[in-house]
Amino acid sequence: MTSKRHILVTSALPYANGPIHLGHLVEYIQTDIWARFQRLRGNDCYYVCADDAHGTPIMLRARLDGISPETLIEATRKEHEADFADFEIGFNNYYTTHSDENREFASSIYLKLRDAGHIATRTIKQAYDPKANMFLPDRFIKGTCPKCGATDQYGDNCEVCGATYDPTELINPVSVVSGATPIEKDSQQYFFKLSDFTDMLKQWLDAGHVQTETAHKLNEWFEEGLQDWDISRNAPYWGFEIPDAPGKYFYVWLDAPMGYMASFKNLCARSDIHFDDYWAADSKYELYHFIGKDIARFHTLFWPAVLEGAGYRKPTAVFCHGFLTVNGQKMSKSRGTFIRARTYLDNLNPEYLRYYYAAKLAAGVDDIDLNLDDFMQRVNADLVGKVVNIASRCAGFINKKFANQLADQLPEPDLYQDMVNVGEQIADYFEHREYNKAVREIMAQADKANVYIDNQKPWALAKQPDTEAEVQQVCTQGLNMFRLLMTYLKPILPVTAERAEAFLNTRLSWADLSQPLLDQPINKFKPLLTRIEKNQIEAMTHDAAETTGNREPTEKTTAQTKTGSRTLTTEPVAEEISFDDFAKIDLRIARIVKAEPVEGADRLLQLTLDIGSETRHVFAGIKSAYKAEDLQGKLTVMVANLAPRKMRFGVSEGMVLAAGSGGNDLFILHPDDGATAGMKVK
Ligand code: MSP
Ligand code: ZN
Repeated sequence: MTSKRHILVTSALPYANGPIHLGHLVEYIQTDIWARFQRLRGNDCYYVCADDAHGTPIMLRARLDGISPETLIEATRKEHEADFADFEIGFNNYYTTHSDENREFASSIYLKLRDAGHIATRTIKQAYDPKANMFLPDRFIKGTCPKCGATDQYGDNCEVCGATYDPTELINPVSVVSGATPIEKDSQQYFFKLSDFTDMLKQWLDAGHVQTETAHKLNEWFEEGLQDWDISRNAPYWGFEIPDAPGKYFYVWLDAPMGYMASFKNLCARSDIHFDDYWAADSKYELYHFIGKDIARFHTLFWPAVLEGAGYRKPTAVFCHGFLTVNGQKMSKSRGTFIRARTYLDNLNPEYLRYYYAAKLAAGVDDIDLNLDDFMQRVNADLVGKVVNIASRCAGFINKKFANQLADQLPEPDLYQDMVNVGEQIADYFEHREYNKAVREIMAQADKANVYIDNQKPWALAKQPDTEAEVQQVCTQGLNMFRLLMTYLKPILPVTAERAEAFLNTRLSWADLSQPLLDQPINKFKPLLTRIEKNQIEAMTHDAAETTGNREPTEKTTAQTKTGSRTLTTEPVAEEISFDDFAKIDLRIARIVKAEPVEGADRLLQLTLDIGSETRHVFAGIKSAYKAEDLQGKLTVMVANLAPRKMRFGVSEGMVLAAGSGGNDLFILHPDDGATAGMKVK
């Protein structure tokens, strides 16, 4: 082996306002397997991460829950740490971006950038609440979508039609804080001059630090020309205040990647690792960021430029992965496929998922699918049926007939050596993140080992006279092949590997593989893994569907969640209408014939309404309050003469009336007190 490498790896920092789910875990499992593989090969490899604890969604979330942001991020961090620990993600440090170290990096890096001339200030127009006397972040403004007319939409995007826009484009915008109509006011903002780094970035990309797919994407951005990046936000904001600009805060995406450095620095403070060895501009050590493809721009443009501008080294490589789908579709709460890490852990062994993701993960940015039937079959066939089976077929004889003692020679040393040699190919696959190929090769070797045992039939041999030595040798051969396989699988299945170590009475290490275990005692075999049963999967999807209070932990977290009747909104009364205007509205009792979730829409249900004379299809943003199945057959009130509207998911032919403040505080049902479908409501 060549000399020992020094490696620092990171995974993206999950937002501190929502639970870890199986989508996130693609990344943490991918990174953890790589870090464990490096350590198994004898390299130094540190793996750090943290919660991403700043930004508007976290501030809003805390307000709605009636707690301080500090309390929210502390509680979330504990949950995240427990989830990661139970999935055997072996961080060397898990920290938070809301730390002293990170504050220190944010301000010192900013000052270095400023002094080197990479910060510009510009005055731009921003929404302002004249009543509350404050600038309004996009999510503090609500109004009617300029594209589809849906009411009660946020200032940055419409959850009904998916349009994105500027808060200034909203129709009838209101401040969520005071209900006042926002005005535009000049605001001084701080920009990072990304274009100063155009040449450096082009060179860096050409030097192969990112995957081809990412490089293509970046070239598109280069063609558009690199824009200055607004790194400041006005108060109120949850984050770090800019040192020379009171009332201005660093945008969360400025200090988030610095969280990698801060977490590592925090690790250095309690160990003998030296920060500068890894981060100085001339560092010879390796630095890798594992991220999802959605955040490539931050890691392959802004981040290397910030590092360069502040005099630090740039990443050796940024590795992007694709997104998780479940049963071929985007994770969905209604289908029970939006699965939290904890929900999975309540029902299934984490190593099954680690194995399945490994079997699917390649080096590129393709999405990966968790097909739950395939998951069950694959884990059962490969891990239980092939790998563990080798040990259970051989262990009994050694345990019982030979007092746990292995034979002093292998009957088929060449077969063993072949399997050792394949290890270099497997290592190469791990190194290049082609885990799917590594797994395929390991299983091909497991097949070979099983064929060997099938042919030798130790159970038949044991019944014949004078075959003692042979049985012991055949089983020793089998167990040594099992040991190779478990070593190759160790980065993927750390706990099962540990159990195998206890059983084989050895430590599985790559360097010792060519030396078989001979003439030494093993321990009693205990089943290492059990089969997945169909009902475990069903229980998990059932539990997942139950936790519909799930908040998707993205920037898209909405302000309307299950917080009872508490709400930030006190919308002012709209413009007066005449009685004649009002009388034009034809309100009818409608029977809900069918209610169904809408693919890709978090808040919508599609209702089929019977109004006696005809049937109408209507989309209603009521999913936070009602389960589709609870609505079927019930009565509601609808506006029957509203012009049909084309929405992103289809045409809506009317509207149902609702009372309540939103979220789960929303009521649409009419009492079934003898009313019939089609009746006019007066
Ligand atoms: N906080 C930012 C990252 C800051 S890094 C300096 C963020 N957080 S996140 O919680 O939304 O996502 C964390 C990581 O999980 C990201 O790399 C993201 O791509 C990944 N994933 C989130 N959902 C995912 C899937 N459904 N599938 C695969 N990866 C996913 O982004
Ligand atoms: Zn819209």
